[in-house]
Amino acid sequence: MSSLRPQREEPPVLEEWYRRHLGPGLHDISSSGVHPYTFAEIRDLCGIRTEDLDAVVMDDSVSQGGAGIRQAIADRYAAGDADRVLVTHGSSEAIALTLATLLRPGDRVVVQEGIYHSLGHYPREAGCEVAVLPAAAVRDGEIDPGVLDALVTSGTAAVVVNFPHNPSGVSLSHPGLKALVSRAAEAGAVLVWDAATAEIAHRWEVLPDPGTLYPHTVSYGTYSKTFGLPGLRVGWAVAPPELLRATFPLRDRTTLFLSPLVELIAERAMRAADRLIGLRAAEAGRNLDLLTAWMAEHEELVRWTPPEGGVCALPVIRELERPGTAPTAVEDLCRELLARHRTLLVPGTAFGVPHGVRLGFGGREDEFRAGLTELSAFLRARGGRG
Ligand SMILES: Cc1ncc(COP(=O)(O)O)c(C=O)c1O
Repeated sequence: MSSLRPQREEPPVLEEWYRRHLGPGLHDISSSGVHPYTFAEIRDLCGIRTEDLDAVVMDDSVSQGGAGIRQAIADRYAAGDADRVLVTHGSSEAIALTLATLLRPGDRVVVQEGIYHSLGHYPREAGCEVAVLPAAAVRDGEIDPGVLDALVTSGTAAVVVNFPHNPSGVSLSHPGLKALVSRAAEAGAVLVWDAATAEIAHRWEVLPDPGTLYPHTVSYGTYSKTFGLPGLRVGWAVAPPELLRATFPLRDRTTLFLSPLVELIAERAMRAADRLIGLRAAEAGRNLDLLTAWMAEHEELVRWTPPEGGVCALPVIRELERPGTAPTAVEDLCRELLARHRTLLVPGTAFGVPHGVRLGFGGREDEFRAGLTELSAFLRARGGRG
């Protein structure tokens, strides 16, 4: 075998699905983010003047992120401690840098079932001993204490979770978070916490960054979801400064630092976070009301657990639950929906749930309504056929 042949995992199903199917003119009701702002809207909402942009010197920035953007993130998520913040190209880069640096072969790592692909990839890639936290163990805002104790044993290196969970929308309550933090602390485990959509909560209050409760936490945030800025490609990690410094050898050989222009926009957006997130959270709330009514009207065709946070849910299509249904039938169903109704969902196979689909309700209200109307016509025409 040629030594040049790459030995890698296949691309994640989720990203491959979007590569193949996302395009203009669709009713996209698949996203885990809110509908994106235009740059004009951002300039207006964040008070960015043309002179501010013109004054940016297009020089190098620094490895951990420029002082202004780091402080803005720290003030919102890290009790003002900018030394605990690393600014990255999306939280994807924060995940890659910190997990590749933190994890060692043979480490015992607990990973939530159906977790966002890169959070599951790095423990496998590092040769860790992975134990799965079952999705069913998270109920009413708490992780079943028996399951938690059995999984997060003494010597566990890390516990990797994402709440509100993409795509199910399952989340933790404040007491549920405290119980998880206590268990991680007792076991001496690092808590790896992906908070991509933390700022939009439905059932309980928005959770604090667990790093403010337990210093051995690595948490991730992003502008791509609740801020409505996926095209900015900025995210961050909040973590112990030693770990952040230890990521530099990898960063020095990959992306080095961000553009100062991007950092300026991100800093202003962070300072205007309440406004940016508030507008989109209100819209997502109205869409969720619509979706809740829609689910009730289509009860014979779909079932769901209402999301507790974030802007997506994982409804189950009943016809796919019939015995003998192929595990990839959901992909055929989603492709047919796209071909006939130009409406995009993500098949649950992207998250290991072959009966479900990711349905995002963070989109523009009129587009979301139109997408649901198309989905309704599609499912009703199939009449629950298998
Ligand atoms: C839970 C979660 N974490 C991290 C990411 C990575 O996002 P980004 O790199 O755009 O910040 C995503 C993107 O879908 C996500 O859903």
